[in-house]
Amino acid sequence: MRTTARTLAAAALSAAACGALLAAAGTPPGSRPSDLYMRRCARCHGKDGRGRTPKGRQLKARDFTDPDFQVQKSDAALLDAVINGTDHDMPAFGTILSGTQIRSLVEVVRKFGTRK
Ligand code: HEC
Repeated sequence: MRTTARTLAAAALSAAACGALLAAAGTPPGSRPSDLYMRRCARCHGKDGRGRTPKGRQLKARDFTDPDFQVQKSDAALLDAVINGTDHDMPAFGTILSGTQIRSLVEVVRKFGTRK
C-alpha cells in the first residue's frame, strides 16, 4: 500500500516535471505558427508563400516573398485580410482562429518577405 502511494506520488511528480518542461520549451509540437500556416494557409498560399499552388493560381493569391507586396501592405491590412477575408477569395479566419493565432500568422507572412 505504502509503495503504491509512493509510486503514485513519484508518478505525479514526474508528470508535473514533464509539464513544466513542456511549458519551458514553449509551444508544443504541431501548434507552432508555421504548422498552423501549413494546415490552414499553404493549400492556397503554398509552403513557400508564393501562392503557386493550383488553388493559389486559380484565385490569384499574391506572392508573399515579393518585396513590393511586403512594402504595399501594412500589418493592419494583413491582419484585416486574415480576420475578415477579402472580396477576392481570401477566406475569413476571424471566427475560426484566435487573435493570437492570427497575429502569429501575419508574422509568418512577413517572414516570407525576408527569405530570398
Ligand atoms: C482558399 C484559398 C486561401 C486560403 C486557404 C488562404 N488564403 Fe489568404 N488569400 C487568398 C487569396 C486568393 C488572396 C488574395 C485576395 C485579394 O487579392 O484580395 C489572399 C490574401 C491573403 C492576404 C492579404 C494579402 C493580399 O493579397 O492582400 C493575407 C495576409 C493572407 N491571404 C493570409 C492568409 C493566411 C494567414 C491564411 C491561413 C490562415 C490564408 N491566407 C488562407 C486565398 C487563400
